[in-house]
Amino acid sequence: MKTAMRTDYCGVITTDHLGQTVTLCGWVHRRRDHGGVIFLDLRDREGLVQVVVNPEQAAAFALAEKIRSEYVVQVTGEVCRRPEGTINPELPTGEIEVVTAELTVLNSSETPPFPLDSYIQVGEDVRLKYRYMDLRRPEIAAHMKLRHKTTHFLREYLDKHEFLEIETPVLTRATPEGARDYLVPSRTHPGEFFALPQSPQIFKQLLMMSGFDRYYQVVRCFRDEDLRADRQPEFTQLDVETTFTDEEDIMGLMENMIRDLFKTLLNVELPNPFPRISYADAMSRYGSDKPDMRNSLEIVDLKDVMQNVDFKVFSGPAKDKKGRVAAMKIPNGGELLSRKDIDDYTKFVSQFGAKGLAYIKVNDMAQGTEGLQSPILKFLNEESINAVLERTGAKNGDLIFFGSDKAKIVNEALGMLREKIAKDKGMLQGDWAPLWVVDFPMFEQDAGSGVWDPLHHPFTSPKDVTAEQLKKDPGAALSRAYDMVLNGFELGGGSIRISNIEMQEAVFELLAMGPEEANARFAHLLTALKYGCPPHGGIAFGLDRLIMVMVGADSIREVIAFPKTQTAQCPLTSAPSDVSEAQLKELNIRIRKPAVEAES
Ligand code: AMO
Ligand code: AMP
Repeated sequence: MKTAMRTDYCGVITTDHLGQTVTLCGWVHRRRDHGGVIFLDLRDREGLVQVVVNPEQAAAFALAEKIRSEYVVQVTGEVCRRPEGTINPELPTGEIEVVTAELTVLNSSETPPFPLDSYIQVGEDVRLKYRYMDLRRPEIAAHMKLRHKTTHFLREYLDKHEFLEIETPVLTRATPEGARDYLVPSRTHPGEFFALPQSPQIFKQLLMMSGFDRYYQVVRCFRDEDLRADRQPEFTQLDVETTFTDEEDIMGLMENMIRDLFKTLLNVELPNPFPRISYADAMSRYGSDKPDMRNSLEIVDLKDVMQNVDFKVFSGPAKDKKGRVAAMKIPNGGELLSRKDIDDYTKFVSQFGAKGLAYIKVNDMAQGTEGLQSPILKFLNEESINAVLERTGAKNGDLIFFGSDKAKIVNEALGMLREKIAKDKGMLQGDWAPLWVVDFPMFEQDAGSGVWDPLHHPFTSPKDVTAEQLKKDPGAALSRAYDMVLNGFELGGGSIRISNIEMQEAVFELLAMGPEEANARFAHLLTALKYGCPPHGGIAFGLDRLIMVMVGADSIREVIAFPKTQTAQCPLTSAPSDVSEAQLKELNIRIRKPAVEAES
C-alpha cells in the first residue's frame, strides 16, 4: 500500500520486485550483526522483510548499529535476490532482501516488556497490559485480518440475501439470556438503571413486528457471567432474524453461509447438509449438547441391565428416575491408558461430581470373566457383564469406563472425559465436524427448587403444543430451537419465536413470573404482540467464537483486539476503576464497601 512515506508494505515484497527501488516503513523485529553487515528484519502488518545494511553506506550503517528492537524506521533500497544458501522458504519474502541506500529512524523504543521475535511463554496479564505490543506479533495480526474478512464476508452474504443491517440500543432494559446484567446508572433518573443488552433479542423481534422482514446486525453483547476460555463479558454476535419462515429455511440459509465462508476464506469443504442430532441423542451418546464429532468415543446406556446387580453404586441410580448408568469404551484402552492415567481420570471426573470411575479391562474375551480385569467384576452378574460387552462392542485390549449417578452428573463426567481422553491420546479424526443440535426440551427443572428454567431464552416457541398443553406438562415439551456446533463449540443458536400472546404469557407463568412481574419487565414485548405479530425466528452466532474455531486458537482472547482477563478486567486501561466522588454524587450513588473490607 503506497502512502506518502512508503512505496509498499514490507511483507509483500517478492521476486516480482527484483531490481526495483522501494521505500518501506515499519518496526525492527530483530537486528542481527553479521561481522561487518547488519541485517534488520523489518515488520509491518503484512509481514517481515530482510533489510541489509552494508558498511559502505557509512551513515546508514552508523545508524543501524544503534538501532534496537521495535525502533520505527524508514528504509529505501533495491530489492535483490538473496545469496545462494540464505533463502528462507518459511517467509513469503524469503527469496529477496532489500539492500539499504537510505535509512531513517522515525522513532526509538524502550526495550520491549517481552520479546516479539520468538514465542516465549509470557504471562497473559503482561501481554494484555502491553496489548498494543502483543498485537504487533504477526500471529495475532493474522487473527485480526481473518476476523475482518469474516465479518466482511458475512455482511456481503446477508446483503445478497436481502437482509438489512439495523442497529439496536445499547442503553436499554434487561434482555434475559441466562447471565447477570451489566448496569449503567441514570443521572437524569436518580436510582434508576439501564441494562446493557445480553443480546438484541427483544429488539430484533420488535423489528420483525415492524415489518422489516429480514434483519441482521454485527452487535456487541454484554454478559456478567463466569468466564471461560470461550467466553468474554463483552462479545460480538452476528444476530439474524426473519419473518414468514420456518426452522428449515433458517437453518438452510445459515449453514450455507457458514459453508461458503469456510470455502472462501479457508478453502475448506464442510459437509452438505450438516448432520443433525436431537438433544436427547446428543446427551445420551456424547454426554453434551455440543459434541465434538471428530471424536468417535461413545457413551452407551446400561440402566436397564443394572437394576438388579449387587452393586448399590450401580443399582441405585439404575432404579432412580433421574439416575443414569452408562459406559464408554476406549478402543485399545488397555494399552493406551496406564494405571496413572486411570487414577488421573478418576480425579478429573470427580470435578463434575462423579464419585468414582469404575472400569473393566478386556484382556481376552475367549476366557469369559477370567479374561476381564476390574475392581467391580465381583459385584456384577453374568447377564450384566455380557450386556456391557455387547453394547460397547468391546474387543480384546479395550477398556470400558463406567459412570453411575444422577443423569446430569454422569453425562457431564463421561462427556468431559470423552473429550479429555480423545485430546490427550490424539484420537480426534478429521479437521472439521459441524452439526445441528435440534429438539431441545423447552425447560429444565432445577433439581433443588423445582423451578422451570428455559433451555434457550423465554421467547422460544414450543413445538406442537397449545398454551394449555404446555402448562399441563412443561417437562415434556420440546422447543423449536436449533444450535450450530462445530468441533465441540456452540457457534450459534436460535429458534422460531413465540408470536402469540397467550403462549408468551404461559411461558412467563411457568418461569414463575406472575402477570405483574411479566408486565413490569416485558410490557413492551407483550403489548407489541397484540398489534399484529408475524411468525418469525432467527439465530445469533458468536463471532469471536467462530473466529477462534476457524484459526484453532485455544482462547477467545486470541481473536479479540482488546479482550478482558478471566476476572473481567482490562489490564491495559485498568478498568474497571474507581470514579470520583463528584461523579458518584451526580449519579446519586453511595458506595457500600464490601463486607470483608469494611471489617478491616
Ligand atoms: P445465545 O445466548 O445462545 O443466544 O448466544 C448466541 C451465541 O453467542 C455466543 N456467546 C458468547 N460468545 C462469547 N462470550 C460469551 N459470553 C458468549 N455468550 C454467548 C455463542 C452463542 O452460541 N438471542 C439469542 C439468539 C437467538 O435466539 O437468535 C442468543 O443470544 O456462540
Ligand atoms: P468402591 O466400592 O466405592 O471402592 O468402588 C469400586 C469401583 O467403583 C471403583 O473403581 C470406583 O472408582 C468405582 N465407583 C464408585 N462410585 C462410582 C460411580 N458413582 N460411578 C462410577 N464408578 C464408581
